Amino acid sequence: MSASKARITAIGSYVPERILTNNDLEKMVDTNDEWIVKRTGIKERRIASDKEFTSDLSYKAVLNLMERYDKTVDDVDLIIVCTMTPDYTTPSVASNLQAKLGIKNTGAIDLNAACAGFAYGLNVANGMITSGLNKKILVVGAETLSKITDFTDRTTCILFGDGAGALLVEYDENQPSFISSHIGSEGEGGQHLYCTNLATQMNNIDLLGNGCIVQNGREVYKWAIKTVTNGMKAVAEKGRINLDEIDWFVPHSANLRMLESICEKSNFPMEQTLYSLIHYGNTSAATIPLSLDIGVEEGKLKAGDYVLLYGFGGGLAHAGLLIKWTL
Ligand code: COA
Repeated sequence: MSASKARITAIGSYVPERILTNNDLEKMVDTNDEWIVKRTGIKERRIASDKEFTSDLSYKAVLNLMERYDKTVDDVDLIIVCTMTPDYTTPSVASNLQAKLGIKNTGAIDLNAACAGFAYGLNVANGMITSGLNKKILVVGAETLSKITDFTDRTTCILFGDGAGALLVEYDENQPSFISSHIGSEGEGGQHLYCTNLATQMNNIDLLGNGCIVQNGREVYKWAIKTVTNGMKAVAEKGRINLDEIDWFVPHSANLRMLESICEKSNFPMEQTLYSLIHYGNTSAATIPLSLDIGVEEGKLKAGDYVLLYGFGGGLAHAGLLIKWTL
């Protein structure tokens, strides 16, 4: 990839107030805290109110970013919202967010690559700035998955939660953040993780058309371990770096057991992995920015650190990025 001219200059996040614990779920479906923690590592997740949607979470994440880093967004020239739970089919969450923020001269697009969305979004932002098309881009990963979760299905409702994270990416050819990337899609396995909208058949297979997330957990699990293990290697190779030189691995926070397995197979220390799933569950496109923000708040992530992000999920799509942390 051509030498990056884009730098990450601020981060912010927001999660809804309502907490849904594993004990709460015990009262809703046939499950228990011990099973959920052992199989997934998740203890609780946040749930948006009936009146709170993805654009509201996105807006609050950007306000948090502006306040913490003393940034203005009036001169942002592109807003990318990575989400699979938009408020409306149209207009986009990004256009909604532009109106809420009162930005006058900007483009606005939603990007749907499910749980790989944020890594794709950052990759696109780097490409737009490096090519000279844009100067200042807001990349938001935001989801209200609770609105498309079937709370009578114990195989999925224990996993998902709501939240948002935002990064600001600006033109800077002297201290760029982006080093290498690797992206992929295996639509042939799309039926293993889906949420129906207009169609109810995929790859010649009939789907459950109830508008909620349906997944074959075992298949997704196996695919993710293989894909992310190979993907990490590909990103590192393209960035001409060894995995043992990476300071932090920030995978999509789907399931702790899965992350442990990926680390074991890659011979990467689990202690150098950042994840947001314990208190927020799987928030799809929001997990990576939430994990980065936890790393910042806990004083783990430092300027100059090499960070390998890897998103994976519905599609089945995946995307990895090697960045130099610049905050
Ligand atoms: N509570 C208690 N028991 C449950 C349960 C729950 N919430 N969900 C499933 N079970 C039961 C199953 O019915 C099954 O019972 P059986 O053996 O009597 O048939 C048993 O637990 C094992 O089910 P299985 O689906 O094989 O469990 P698993 O070890 O694969 O764990 C997941 C299930 C969903 C946690 C796991 O497959 C997973 O995390 N997959 C990846 C999902 C993911 O991250 N998706 C998003 C990617 S972006």
